[in-house]
Amino acid sequence: MNRKLMLALGATLLLAASVPARAADMEALKGEAKEIIQGFVKELKGTLVSVMKEKGPVGAVDVCHEKAQEITRKHNKDGWKVGRTALKLRNPKNAPDEWERAVLQEFEKKIAEGADPKKLAKAEVVEMNGKKVFRFMKAIPVGKPCLNCHGEKVKEDVLAIIRKHYPQDRATGFKLGQLRGAFTLSKPLD
Ligand code: HEC
Repeated sequence: MNRKLMLALGATLLLAASVPARAADMEALKGEAKEIIQGFVKELKGTLVSVMKEKGPVGAVDVCHEKAQEITRKHNKDGWKVGRTALKLRNPKNAPDEWERAVLQEFEKKIAEGADPKKLAKAEVVEMNGKKVFRFMKAIPVGKPCLNCHGEKVKEDVLAIIRKHYPQDRATGFKLGQLRGAFTLSKPLD
């Protein structure tokens, strides 16, 4: 096997290799991650609810389009990277990497087996490009207000504005309680 190919294979193996970590460290990191998610949800939902009241779902799509990524970036702090991801995407910028895709599929499987999506989370220390990284994901179920823009019967005018901003949108057709996606956080450890 040539050296380049071997290096490439080595890199892919390292990409998501699980690394053992001390239980106490894991608990502390999970706590930090959950706290960041709480702040992120509060701001994201708060913005969504107030804009929905003021401008209705069509105006809210515009605001989400402009603000969602900005609000997401604001919650990156102390080395943490914060985001939202999903298997069926609206914004391609939120696409999952290999580890995230596998976790989302694991969440789907657990929900199919009867698990409560509100309680699904995954924490792991992985080695990425030779560096240890703590990764955390928390499932996001579809709630009632979400159906306005992600449901099976999204109104025509709402759909039109979604298609305008997100021509490749795949994030409609959801039912109440299904898995919409997940929060995803990471923090380098060394
Ligand atoms: C007013 C319409 C609207 C409502 C209501 C809404 N969303 Fe969204 N959602 C959007 C838009 C627009 C985006 C793309 C944001 C961006 O550009 O990052 C999005 C993106 C997302 C994403 C990121 C993944 C992706 O596909 O890009 C998740 C997860 C998500 N929404 C979940 C929810 C949940 C859960 C609710 C209910 C609490 C909800 N949304 C309510 C419009 C909406």
